[in-house]
Amino acid sequence: MAGMTQQAQERHYLDVWGVAKSFRGTRVMSEMNFRMDRGELVSLLGPSGCGKTTLLRIIAGLMEADQGDVVLGGRNITRLPAHRRNISVVFQNYALFPHLTVAENVAFGLRARGTAKSACAGPVEEALKLVRMEAFAGRPVSALSGGQQQRVAVARALVVQPDLLLLDEPFSALDRKLRETMQVELKALLRDRGITAIFVTHDQEEAMGVSDRIAVMNAGRIEQFADPSTLYSRPATPFVMDFVGLSTRLSGTVTHSDGHVSIVGTDHGEVTAPGAYPPGTPVQVGVRPELAAPGPGENTISVRLADVMVLGSKTVLHGAVHGEDRVMCELPGIRTGLHRGEPVQLGWAVADTLIHEAAP
Ligand SMILES: Nc1ncnc2c1ncn2[C@@H]1O[C@H](COP(=O)(O)OP(=O)(O)O)[C@@H](O)[C@H]1O
Ligand SMILES: [Mg+2]
Repeated sequence: MAGMTQQAQERHYLDVWGVAKSFRGTRVMSEMNFRMDRGELVSLLGPSGCGKTTLLRIIAGLMEADQGDVVLGGRNITRLPAHRRNISVVFQNYALFPHLTVAENVAFGLRARGTAKSACAGPVEEALKLVRMEAFAGRPVSALSGGQQQRVAVARALVVQPDLLLLDEPFSALDRKLRETMQVELKALLRDRGITAIFVTHDQEEAMGVSDRIAVMNAGRIEQFADPSTLYSRPATPFVMDFVGLSTRLSGTVTHSDGHVSIVGTDHGEVTAPGAYPPGTPVQVGVRPELAAPGPGENTISVRLADVMVLGSKTVLHGAVHGEDRVMCELPGIRTGLHRGEPVQLGWAVADTLIHEAAP
């Protein structure tokens, strides 16, 4: 293990290695490996209950793992208490002191580390400037809006110049427009300052928008760890394909393979997909909705339109399908002339076809 850790610490700024965690005998995480580089902004993305907060708390030292190691900046911090790790955490619910002013809240982290009161003013002002809250320094935080409070929480996290910043669903209590503004601001701030950060979210668009790389988690495991475009265009598992973005998804069985492509029989026609699979293999084939279009293509399926949604920037077609299958097509802008109940052909390229073996 020592050899592994030593090797990893030369290459990675943060190295979470072999972490396992049970709660009252129930394993929620086993053999978790997670590593990232200095200056990266990585998201942990996954459904509620998949273990995102657990992993974050173990990294922060707020929870002890049953086994495994956490190495940060070449130092094994597994046994260090949270207050000696120089890791800051921003929580969803802001966790500010309502009776203190904005400046007092931000100074709190510094004071807790023994910084003299007189030495706090400069760093506090600078941290508040970073989040554009310097004009609010003297106000009680209870008088602030949700977005303003979360800016203060970010300032409080940054004022101590942490080696690592952890954010646990920091914007999920904010409405959509404000959330998008905060995402843009946070990303720019972390980039400009070269801060290494882990951002937890269950919102795939948020993860895609803010991150250099995304670890997609499911049931205490990382299913895929990649940059946003790879996750979207080459999802490694059916779970990732479903969780990140939307797609047409048809179950079928491989009927033939020539070693390069496989032919799959589905309820809506034959689909050719890249890759060799033995005949008889149960698979799922799919395509992202904006890569398909009405009319024949290299792959063509026939389906009846279950719905036509004119959303303004795009028009979304939904096919009438059975069971777990799903057929979707997104066309840019407003499209007229397509109607619910009509049969339609949808075509797309073989190269754009996604294929995974069906879960046993
Ligand atoms: N303190 C705890 N006691 C018991 N079970 C817990 C505790 N914390 C988390 N869990 C369980 O561990 C799993 C992962 O939880 P969590 O890390 O909070 O997920 P997420 O943050 O992805 O929603 C869930 O099944 C949850 O119920
Ligand atoms: Mg959580």
